[in-house]
Amino acid sequence: MAKESDIVQPLLAWFRETARDLPWRRTYDPYHVWISEIMLQQTQMDRGVAYFLRWIKRFPDVQAVAVAGEQEILKYWEGLGYYARARNLHRAAKVIAGEFAGLVPCDYDQLRSLPGIGPYTAAAVASVAGNRDVPVIDANVMRVYARLFDISLPIKSREVQQRITRIAGELLPHGRARVFNQALMDLGGLVCTPKTPRCEICPLASTCAARQAGTVALRPVVGEGKKIVTVEKVAGIIRREDRIFIQQRRADDVWGGLWEFPGGELTGNSPEVAVVLAIEADTGLAVRVLESLTTIIHHYTRYKIVLHCFLCELSGNDSQPALKSAVDSRWIDADDLSRYAFPAGPRKLLEYLAKTDSSLLAPLT
Ligand code: ADE
Repeated sequence: MAKESDIVQPLLAWFRETARDLPWRRTYDPYHVWISEIMLQQTQMDRGVAYFLRWIKRFPDVQAVAVAGEQEILKYWEGLGYYARARNLHRAAKVIAGEFAGLVPCDYDQLRSLPGIGPYTAAAVASVAGNRDVPVIDANVMRVYARLFDISLPIKSREVQQRITRIAGELLPHGRARVFNQALMDLGGLVCTPKTPRCEICPLASTCAARQAGTVALRPVVGEGKKIVTVEKVAGIIRREDRIFIQQRRADDVWGGLWEFPGGELTGNSPEVAVVLAIEADTGLAVRVLESLTTIIHHYTRYKIVLHCFLCELSGNDSQPALKSAVDSRWIDADDLSRYAFPAGPRKLLEYLAKTDSSLLAPLT
């Protein structure tokens, strides 16, 4: 088994030489580190940096987040997905503004008491921002340890989780958690990658048990993944003169507070029939289909969502909806669509329309 000095010293030396210049690494401001960690749970580093910079420009400190309206928060989160994270971040900012004088704490337990801050985020903020002696274990770090110690049991098993937690705690060099944890995360993200790891440049290659055993490609051992469930849905852009209909989802919904086009699940009918029935059931509006637009496919957790999209118009005179699943609705000018935050499905539809036929959403002449 590798000795501590064989791992810690080469890893820290490698990080000193190669650490990426990330915006939150300039000052390690706990607010910056917190925002970056929450964003990086949703996206890759490049996109994460872009979202981070845009966010910090608009919300330079916790107070700015605390006093912002939820719609604006969601707008700045739009495209990152899992909007509960953004709503929790907003709630946590209000608590930090009220109870921590606007300063993000670096104490693990205080962090854990905040909405949306679980063990991973608390450990990351405490160690990266506060340099507290807390190990951080994310998927990248797990992979590094699974290879370094050639762990042949499933990575998600309790036994392996406990073993890695113990190893991570033992290896953590006192007073160096900030660099050690980030070095491990960077190593997992840049060198010890899931496919085609770059062992030839790895500072830990000579101590890596999987490399010696020729099992790098087999580690970590992943169990059977959860089955992906396909759900077919229908949605309609209803156009009335130069306006289109959007509705807002309930706050307690997965995409709570976001806007969408009405619709529902594809039931026994054809998508064209289903969209008319679903819109009627969802909004009380009587519509007819003008055109089939496209089918959008997107993935959400273990669901594959197939969304059949149509352009519709009112078939009756009544434009006043009776909302079932939504809490608010508007007939808006197509030019104002960018002011509203949409979940991935409708957003992909809007991107598709912008690319293919921008006249569709343009005012009727
Ligand atoms: N991924 C998530 N947080 C990170 C960090 N602080 N450094 C490198 N990669 C990360």
